[in-house]
Amino acid sequence: MITAVLGGGQLARMLALAGAPLGLRTRFLDPSPDAVAGHVAERITAHYDDERALQQLAEGASVCTFEFENVPVAATEWLTAHATVRPHPRALAIGQDRWAEKTMFRRLGIGTAKTAPAATVTELHQAVHEVGAPCIVKTRRLGYDGRGQVRLRDPRDTAAIERAFAELTAGNDGGLVVEALVPFDRELSVLAVRSTTGETACYPLVQNEHEGGILRRSRAPAPGLTDDVQRRAERLATAVLQELDYVGVLAIELFEVGGTLLANEMAPRVHNSGHWTIEGAVCSQFENHLRAVHGLPLGDPSMAGGGVATMVNLIGAMPAREHLLKLPGVHLHDYGKAARPGRKLGHATVVGSDRDEVDALAARALG
Ligand SMILES: Nc1ncnc2c1ncn2[C@@H]1O[C@H](COP(=O)(O)OP(=O)(O)O)[C@@H](O)[C@H]1O
Ligand SMILES: [Mg+2]
Repeated sequence: MITAVLGGGQLARMLALAGAPLGLRTRFLDPSPDAVAGHVAERITAHYDDERALQQLAEGASVCTFEFENVPVAATEWLTAHATVRPHPRALAIGQDRWAEKTMFRRLGIGTAKTAPAATVTELHQAVHEVGAPCIVKTRRLGYDGRGQVRLRDPRDTAAIERAFAELTAGNDGGLVVEALVPFDRELSVLAVRSTTGETACYPLVQNEHEGGILRRSRAPAPGLTDDVQRRAERLATAVLQELDYVGVLAIELFEVGGTLLANEMAPRVHNSGHWTIEGAVCSQFENHLRAVHGLPLGDPSMAGGGVATMVNLIGAMPAREHLLKLPGVHLHDYGKAARPGRKLGHATVVGSDRDEVDALAARALG
């Protein structure tokens, strides 16, 4: 059986690696001839709107999925007419638009930061006034790793508002959102999966730390996680899965603030904060995504082995392989990408039974 994937970055690469033992082959489409999934999967190099390439991608594949939320919705809609696409393009469309995400969360009774949309500079002044400061102005579309965001401290600083508008709308006409800055205690994420029969499973909540807007470290289960918080996160994730009649893995980024969970954004795909599941869970997010989209039974999302896992991203430059492989129990994932400042080149995961020991070893992996 063949899995067809739109996007050929490290997520597609790890999907392909997870599929191999299940007898699933992977074919992907990516505009870059260097897309790193090509080391382990069948490559098609073309733009996402190239119908011949889409046809070739879907040819003989059991299911089409995506690893990247900025693939054009039109490509997934075109594929839907020719093949099975999971998750549904509607989930992709919502995941591409911060305002649509927030609107859906609120409709489902899920708390979010106070948010207002703005398409023009006048609307941006109004939105900042309505939300109050401090706040963050974000592009509705195409932001990632903290890009496409400007923080504002003073709602009366009209020059700063105008600068933010000019900066964020240059080359981007997708509109903006203004969000109240949440004084969160910590950032968490919930990864959940739903099968074609409506079965759902949730991984233990993860605590995430960012540096310069990029995920640096994820720890599972989130230190001090209570059953109550886990259950609340599972309830909100399940509500989203059901609302979207979703099939596959979905990630929702959360802020924990004063015991409340607020939803920040969702990713309709496997997620960086779930990479620890490769060694740290009974069934990884990648395998579970494949199981779901192929209509197979879901795997067990619970912690494997000692019950504690920490993942660190290797960003900008890879530590020496000799250094990493000398550390006992460190699992290295080198994506085979060219080094560039701020680029995620790989990750390392440590699993064990003692939180402090696992964290200390993961810190040593950073070099
Ligand atoms: N409303 C907010 N309040 C506080 N911090 C925020 C808020 N929105 C984003 N951040 C911070 O910026 C990071 C990146 O923002 P996010 O909305 O997740 O965009 P992306 O991950 O797509 O770049 C978040 O993980 C969080 O650390
Ligand atoms: Mg984010």
